[in-house]
Amino acid sequence: MSSFAIISDLHSNTEALGAVFEDIRSRGIEEVVCLGDVIGYGPNPRQCIDMILDWPRPIQCIRGNHEEALLDEGSATEFNDKARSAIDWTRDALNDSQFPWEENERYWNFLGGLKERAHLDDNLFVHGSPRDPIREYLLPRDSQKPEKMRVLFERMDRPKCFVGHSHVPGVYTTAGEYFHPNDISDGVYQCNSEKTLFNVGSVGQPRDGDVRASYVSIAGGEIRFHRVEYDYRSVMQKIYATAGLPDYLADRLEKGR
Ligand SMILES: [Fe+2]
Repeated sequence: MSSFAIISDLHSNTEALGAVFEDIRSRGIEEVVCLGDVIGYGPNPRQCIDMILDWPRPIQCIRGNHEEALLDEGSATEFNDKARSAIDWTRDALNDSQFPWEENERYWNFLGGLKERAHLDDNLFVHGSPRDPIREYLLPRDSQKPEKMRVLFERMDRPKCFVGHSHVPGVYTTAGEYFHPNDISDGVYQCNSEKTLFNVGSVGQPRDGDVRASYVSIAGGEIRFHRVEYDYRSVMQKIYATAGLPDYLADRLEKGR
């Protein structure tokens, strides 16, 4: 495989996903892997799944905790009130009876077919972490927890592992370092023979203080972090206009938190 892109945590944000897809296309990249949380939080779950299914090449997609919460209501008990309201609203949107049932069924078939992990070349893909693929978070402060990091690296069955879930992009090394993409030259990380963990950040709800959509591309041993501007104000307006989605989910888009 020559080069491919990795996206995660789209969260029903079609404006952000559209801008990212455009950026991926402009780089001549066709192969895309998605680390989950296609839905949840945002106003366009149906359109977001359509965009994944309609990309010219089949996209390998992992199951995130929001997909898990849709498929298994019991697993949403760990969600805070705002995330749970959004999941309930999303479930209704995907079951909307004003659409033909075949159309709704297409979304539920997509969700039901998502796997917990995937592999491509030297890379392992999960939503959360190699230890707990759906739920465990990887955050910059974890680089200071040697025991946690040791176990995560131990659980990797490939030299490189890509995760999402925390919505904070960066590189984690076995030496206990964390690098935000802004801390590495041109946002490009050159892989060495050591195991390395990468968080690709979030397309639809970034939380590192930068409102732009985040994703990663790989070519050979080079991992490149990208940020793409999109019209977050229209997404905010759609969320404000949707009774079932808490305003807080719009407010945070303009803060990148
Ligand atoms: Fe997420």
